[in-house]
Amino acid sequence: MSSKFVITGGNRLNGKVRVGGAKNSALKLMAAALLTEGKTTLANVPAITDMKIMAAVLERLGCCVDCVGVNAIEIEPGCSIYTEAPYDLVSQMRASIIVLGPLLARLGRARVAMPGGCNIGSRKIDMHIRGLEALGARFEVGHGFIEAFSEKLVGSKIALDYPSVGATENLLMAATLAEGVTIIDNVAREPEIVDLVRFLIKMGARIEGAGTPTLRIEGVDKLYGVEYRVMPDRIEAGTFLVAGAVTGGDILVEDTIPEHLDLVISKLQDAGVAISQYDNKIRVHGCKGISPVDIATLPYPGFPTDMQTQVMALLALADGISIITENIFENRFMFVNELNRMGSDVRIEGRHAIIKGVPKITGAPVKSPDLRGGAALVVAGLVAEGVTEVLDVYHIDRGYQNFEEKLRGLGANITRVGEGEHVAALRAVQSSK
Ligand code: UD1
Repeated sequence: MSSKFVITGGNRLNGKVRVGGAKNSALKLMAAALLTEGKTTLANVPAITDMKIMAAVLERLGCCVDCVGVNAIEIEPGCSIYTEAPYDLVSQMRASIIVLGPLLARLGRARVAMPGGCNIGSRKIDMHIRGLEALGARFEVGHGFIEAFSEKLVGSKIALDYPSVGATENLLMAATLAEGVTIIDNVAREPEIVDLVRFLIKMGARIEGAGTPTLRIEGVDKLYGVEYRVMPDRIEAGTFLVAGAVTGGDILVEDTIPEHLDLVISKLQDAGVAISQYDNKIRVHGCKGISPVDIATLPYPGFPTDMQTQVMALLALADGISIITENIFENRFMFVNELNRMGSDVRIEGRHAIIKGVPKITGAPVKSPDLRGGAALVVAGLVAEGVTEVLDVYHIDRGYQNFEEKLRGLGANITRVGEGEHVAALRAVQSSK
């Protein structure tokens, strides 16, 4: 049987919840471990499906990957690694494309299957390719694979058309071992990029400009294995803030970095949610009526596309009309049909979602279309009248460790029924190693 969450809505959430390590940082740090022969130890790695897929990709490339404690892994590429990231793994997670830059930099060659992953739009990789070409790589694309070659990567000046997170990371990693200086303009400024830069500097890379629109990288001959702690997951933290708000609860989200959620917090406050911030904690306490708010997703420090769906679940219950404009991925409204089956009134017009607040939503069987859409449906289920069944939970397992256990710890009535699909997915990863 397919795994699903069964949620009986109506409980106010109360208590403390600890946020885990950031999925979108840990994945890139794991790939960056390919840049050295030495041993990398990562702490605060979330135990989620995407990490298992990336571990399997690295093992296929010849790395030794070991769990060395709760949420800690060791990666040792050694001196003989392979150059091919196969389709059976890459198709399960688009972020696998991130091994392209490190493999090229280290081996002068990479063959990576064209990516799959979350079904949220076309998700092109043209900027990754153009940027690596500017560093001297040659590409052949065909038969479902991207193949890249280079005698030696050489530093260059690159301007990205758009501050793509993945392209910034691939080029940054490739440039660490290129000859001479690389300057990349219009880079992404997401906190996960800053985390990757810190990690690379610890490995011996020379990089300036993290968190600004321009990165300057001076190539070095060699990088070294290090120990590093992954930054906290801002999207997991934000999801719990919305869950606390929508249920009118009082919860303390611990081990987070409030400034990473500045705009999310201020939009929630505009909606009438009471929020207090501390050094590494955020408290959401009360929400007397929800006011409508307009939101447009944008690259960091703009409003994160990864939080748009969860906040829509809150605004579905606002006293008035909100508009959410999705500027990053064309297909991130897929969960709206499911939300409307719970009684919300959301209309999609191109990039805009027009959310007419309703006084209540009702439990229904709904399907997770993707990771964040699935999380939003769980949030909706927490406040819906009656029972909500969220199917296809494997999408949610890609990004949230122990989601239902953490919610239960806060007082939610949520259980997982049937493990078949999730376990089958993990088995598929295990057997492909
Ligand atoms: C990363 C995150 C994802 C987040 C997104 C935006 C990971 C594993 N995923 O995705 O959770 O929602 O950043 O914050 O870190 N684009 C091109 N050409 C390219 C590259 C991107 O057209 O070469 C387009 C994409 O199709 C998309 C937009 O640029 O429309 C943003 O993509 P990008 O910033 O690269 O996101 P990802 O790295 O895929």
